[in-house]
Amino acid sequence: MRMTQRKLNGIYFSIWIALTLTVVIILKVATPIFNNLLTDLNLDYQFDPTLAIQMSVVLLLLSLLIFSTIWSIRNRIWKGKESIKSYFLILKIRKELILASYSDDQNVTEKVVRLPKIKIKFDDKQLNTGRLIIRDSVEFHEKLEKATFTPALKGFKVETVYQSDDGDWFIFDFYATDSQNQDVFTELSSFLDWSNQTTNQYQIRFDGRLSADLKHILLVGATRTGKTYGLIGLLLQMINKSTTYHLYFADPKNDQLRKIGNWVDPKKTAVTTEELIKLIEQVYQRLIEREKEMEKATATRMTGDYRDVKLEPIFLVFDEFSSFINVLESKEKKQVLGHLTAVVQRGAGAGVFLLLIMQKSDATTLPTAIRSNLLLKIVLGNATTTTYSTAFESSSDVPIFRFGKGQGVYLDDTMSKPKLFSFPYLKFIDAFDGGSNDPALLWQKNSSDQQALNSEL
Ligand SMILES: Nc1ncnc2c1ncn2[C@@H]1O[C@H](COP(=O)(O)OP(=O)(O)O)[C@@H](O)[C@H]1O
Ligand SMILES: [Mg+2]
Repeated sequence: MRMTQRKLNGIYFSIWIALTLTVVIILKVATPIFNNLLTDLNLDYQFDPTLAIQMSVVLLLLSLLIFSTIWSIRNRIWKGKESIKSYFLILKIRKELILASYSDDQNVTEKVVRLPKIKIKFDDKQLNTGRLIIRDSVEFHEKLEKATFTPALKGFKVETVYQSDDGDWFIFDFYATDSQNQDVFTELSSFLDWSNQTTNQYQIRFDGRLSADLKHILLVGATRTGKTYGLIGLLLQMINKSTTYHLYFADPKNDQLRKIGNWVDPKKTAVTTEELIKLIEQVYQRLIEREKEMEKATATRMTGDYRDVKLEPIFLVFDEFSSFINVLESKEKKQVLGHLTAVVQRGAGAGVFLLLIMQKSDATTLPTAIRSNLLLKIVLGNATTTTYSTAFESSSDVPIFRFGKGQGVYLDDTMSKPKLFSFPYLKFIDAFDGGSNDPALLWQKNSSDQQALNSEL
C-alpha cells in the first residue's frame, strides 16, 4: 500500500524511538551478563554503562520534545479546542481523500502519496462555522470542483464552495449541524467588546462571523421572528461607536423603535404617516447636503468615500415598512419611493444609509430599484419559498434548518448563496425590561462605561 509522507514520517519516528529504547534496555540487561563474562574470563575490565544509558535517555527525551514541539506548532495547539477539532477533521479528510484516490495518479511508481494541502479555520470560538481550505492544483482541480465534503466533516455541513481570491485554494464554508447556538450577552459592555473585536467605527457586527461595512440593509421576517430585536443590537453598536451616527427612526407601528428613537433623538423619530413622510424628506435633504459636502471635501481626491473625508454616517432605520407604504396615496407614495431610491442609489458613498424592515418583500411594497440596492439581505425565521425568492431573487440553495428567534439566513453582494445567520441574544435587555433600571440609560452613548463606573463606586 502507498503511504502519505506524514505516515511515513510517523513510522520513521517510531522506529527511531524504538531503537533508542532498545539500546537502553540492552545496555541495562546485557551489561551485567557481559561483565560476568569478563570476570569469568579473568579479565580485569568492567564495562560501565551509565554514560551510554544517560546519553540514550537524553537523546530519547530530546527527540520526543522536538517532535511534540513541531506537532504543536503545526497543529497550532495554542488554539485549544479549535486545534484539536481541526486536527481530527483534517485527519478524517485526508483519509477520505486517499480512499477517493485524490492522490497523484501519475507517480504511482513512487512510494509516497502526495495529498493536497488542507487547512481548517473556524470563525468563532464556539466552532459553529468555519472554512475548509484545500490547495488547488492542475491535477486535482476537476475533482475538487465536484467534491462534497459534508460526509467527511462529521457534525458539519458544507454551505458554499468557492475559490480563494488568488485562485490557489478551494474554500468550503461549513457550519455545525447541531450549532445554531446564539451568542449570549449578559452585559452591554461585553456585547460591545464582541462587536469591536471585528469592526472599526464604520462597521457593524451582525453575528459570529458576519461583520460588514455600513451598507443598505433589508431585514425580512414574519411577525415575532426577531427583526426589531436584531435591529436593537445594531443600533446599540451604532450609538456606542467613537464616531457619531445620525440616526433617523421610523416606526409606523408605534412600538419599540419609537421609544428608542425618543430616548436617542426625539426630533428624528416619526410614527404617523405625516411624520414619516417628513422624516424621509429630511433624510433626502441630508443626502443632497451631504453630496455637496462630499463634492467640496473630495475636490482634490480621485477616490474615497465619506469615511476618507471624516464625515459621519447617517442611517434611516425603518421598522415595518409595508404598513407605512401600503396606506399612502399614489402621489405621496411616488415621492417617498423617489426619495428612498435616491438614498439607496446615491447614499452609500456619501454615508447615507437605509435599513428597511418588513414582513415580506414583494415587488408591490418594495420596488426592485430599491431592493436591488439593499446589498445585505437578512431573512429571519422559517420563511416561505416566495419570501426567499423575492428577497434573494432566487429561493434555491437556502440552507434547510429550523430557525429559532433571531435566526435565519443572509446574503450580501459578495455571495452567490445565502448562509446561516443568527442575531445574538441580548440578555442585558431583560434587566431593563421590567427591571429597576431605566431603559433610557441603555441608549446613552458609552452607557456601558458609565455602568462599569457605577458598579465600581
Ligand atoms: N435574537 C434573539 N434572541 C433572543 N430572543 C429574541 C431574539 N430576537 C427576538 N427574540 C424574542 O422574540 C420576541 C419578538 O421579537 P421581535 O424583534 O419583536 O420580532 P419582530 O420584530 O420580528 O416581530 C422578542 O420580544 C424577544 O423576546
Ligand atoms: Mg418588530
